[in-house]
Parts: sequence; C-alpha cells; structure tokens
Amino acid sequence: MLSREQNELITRVMPGTPMGNAMRRYWIPALLAREIAEPDGAPVRVRLLGEDLLAFRDSTGRIGLVEEYCPHRRASLFFGRNEECGLRCVYHGWKFDIAGTCVDMMNEPEENDFKHKVRLTAYPTCERGGIVWAYLGPAERMPPLPKFAWTEAPETHLHVTKVIQECNWLQGLEGGIDTSHAPIMHRLLSETSTRGGFKPSNPFVRGKAPKLVVDITDYGYQYAGIRPLGDAEMHIRTYHFVLPFHQIRPSRAESGVPLIAGHSWVPIDDETTMVYNWAYSPNDALTDADRLERGLGNGPVHVDPDTFRSHANRANNYLLDRNVQRNESYTGIDGINVQDRAIQESMGRIVDRSKEHLGPADKAIIQARKLLRQAVKAVEEGRAPDGTGTSYYSLYAHEAVLPGGADWRRQVTPEMRAEMILQTV
Ligand code: FES
Ligand SMILES: [Fe+2]
Repeated sequence: MLSREQNELITRVMPGTPMGNAMRRYWIPALLAREIAEPDGAPVRVRLLGEDLLAFRDSTGRIGLVEEYCPHRRASLFFGRNEECGLRCVYHGWKFDIAGTCVDMMNEPEENDFKHKVRLTAYPTCERGGIVWAYLGPAERMPPLPKFAWTEAPETHLHVTKVIQECNWLQGLEGGIDTSHAPIMHRLLSETSTRGGFKPSNPFVRGKAPKLVVDITDYGYQYAGIRPLGDAEMHIRTYHFVLPFHQIRPSRAESGVPLIAGHSWVPIDDETTMVYNWAYSPNDALTDADRLERGLGNGPVHVDPDTFRSHANRANNYLLDRNVQRNESYTGIDGINVQDRAIQESMGRIVDRSKEHLGPADKAIIQARKLLRQAVKAVEEGRAPDGTGTSYYSLYAHEAVLPGGADWRRQVTPEMRAEMILQTV
C-alpha cells in the first residue's frame, strides 16, 4: 500500500510534477514510425505526458516533434501544410522547421518580420524498432539512445502495435510485472479452446503459486516467478522491468515459435496511456498470422488501426460473454491483453493505493514503486535516474522447466552477469 501522497507522487507526470520531471529524463515512445511514413505527409497529433504535440516528416525525411499550437495566435498546426521542409500554419502563414525555428512569416512585410524572436517548442527524436522515440528533458542531460535487443531486430522478425488504455500508466505497468495474475486471469478452462490464454496443461498453470525472486540492477530489475512442478521440477519464467515503464517477457507466436515480447506503458496524460506492444522472434521471421495478434487482442482484429482504440472497451464491458466465462476462459473476455485492459481500467482512472492489501506475491510491484520513488529523488537531487545508462541494451527473457533446486540464473539467464545484480530481494 502507498500513502495518498506517495501515490500522487509516482502516478502524476504532467509538466512540472516530480515524476513528470523524472520521466522526461528518458527516451519515450512517441508514435509508430509508420504513422508518418511519407515525407511531407499529414502531421499526426501526439499527446505525451500531458503535452499536446505534432509529429511530421519533412521533405528530406527528417522527423519533427513540435508543440501543437502556433506561437502567433495559437491556432492548431494540425491543420497546417507540411511543405518544403517545414510546417506552415494556415491561419497567417507562419512556417516552422523540425527544430521549431520560424523560417517564414507570410503576414508581415519583410522589413517588419521578427521570425528570429519566435520559436515553437521542438523535441529531439530518433527512430528505432518501428517507433519514433522522443526526449522531452533538458538538452544537456540527454541519455544514450534507446536500444533494446528488440529495437535492433530486423523488420521481418519484429512486430509493434499500440493501443489506448483508459487509466493511469502505472496501473498498466503494475499488471505487466505481476506474474501471479497471469496463469489465473488468462487461464483457459479447456484444452481445445482456440482463444488466447494459458491451457490447463501449460506448466505455467499446472505449477503451484509462484515464489518471486527480484534481482535489483541499475536499469530496474530482473525477476523470476518460480513455480514448483510436482516434487522434482520447477517452472521458471523471467521478466525485466526497465525504468521507467518497460516490460520484457517470454512469449510464443500464434505459430508456436518462441518469442521475446513486452510492453511500454507510455502516459498520454495522468488518466490515459498508450500501450506499445512488441514481439520479436530471435530465429524465424514472423508470419502474417502472427502479426494479427489474435490471442493477445492488440492487432487489427481487436484495435482500430487508425484511432488505436480497442473495439472491446469500458463502454461495452469488453464484450464479456458469460457463457464463455462459464465454460472456456476465466474472464469470458477475448484476448489476453484485452483482459488486462479490462481489469486495469476497472480499478478506476488512478487506483487508490492507500486501500490495497499487498502480499508476498506483490513483491515485484512493491520494488518497482520503490525504484520509481528513487528515480524521482535522484532527479530532484540533480543526479541521473537509474535506467538511463546502457546496461539494459542486451536483455532477454526466458521460460524453462528445470529440476527443482537447479541454479536457474546460470542455466536460464546467462546474459545477466553477476556484477549486474546489485541486490536480491
Ligand atoms: S495563428 Fe499561426 S500564423 Fe497566425
Ligand atoms: Fe496479464
């Protein structure tokens, strides 16, 4: 449980808030690169950490991420013309390049113009893994570029989508680093069901309640859910939490090939989140069926590819089918991540964490909250927050069945060198 003040501190990210300042020290997913595929194409509205922005690709292919409102008389530049290396406001014709420099003022005679005196706020961007990332913090504190193992995967092996979730970002993140709910809420009751979820024979479901081991690092933590399987074996599933809001987990494609997957819960504002979903196959290229993400409920079947709104949503009770709930799946809701969104949104826009009752199964969540508070403190004290180095660059996530008592760290996560683990809780 958190006090009301602690809850406010780590959930709110609008400009000027302590967590908002901390989050602005990281590279943040701003939009999918395919939303601004064409040079001089239509600008796209992006709301990020409560700031209204516009993304556009200029004539030479460079990306601009600028404030939405024209500094002249505040018209929205969404209606602007993306022309010859700049975005021109259609009200009086002021034009801005990707750096936010005013390059033309059509409504002022040349001898009067004062374009060198006005600017549009513009943020640096980079394109990696099919995502345009933005840095909204102080220029002199910019961390190294965002580089996860998945952002470096070839396009043929990588799939990225996004979907709007109608609650605070931390509720999403806490669902993502909560292994204990997964084989319960996402459980299928029938071995023959074709829906997304974990079947009764899956060792993840057959195993008993998990013991959690959290290895704290300088990027966040790795944690393992260890579930006894009979007397002789155990099921291990490892996850990473990379500050401030990334999850990495093992997964499987529709075709059955092993994947590494994850989400990033990016605040649109305090009460709305853009969830980025990614998956990559270390070995085989992904198929068209894999890219539909039917089991997860994040693909074009479940989410409008233009508005990024989920067809199953709060207004229609996520298309819950009580018959399916009785006979086929725990929730009766179709799609693993639709189930996640339903339950996380059911807690309210910002859950009141002063009313919780946490147990040992919530250990990873308790640690994440602690690390977030430490990140806030570091920024307040003028230091770089954890997770702004490069130690997360080569992380993987794993799933395995091992003999009980095996040295799982050595066998399952060899890339986690001992010196990366600062403390185990
Ligand atoms: S409001 Fe944009 S040019 Fe006047
Ligand atoms: Fe889940």
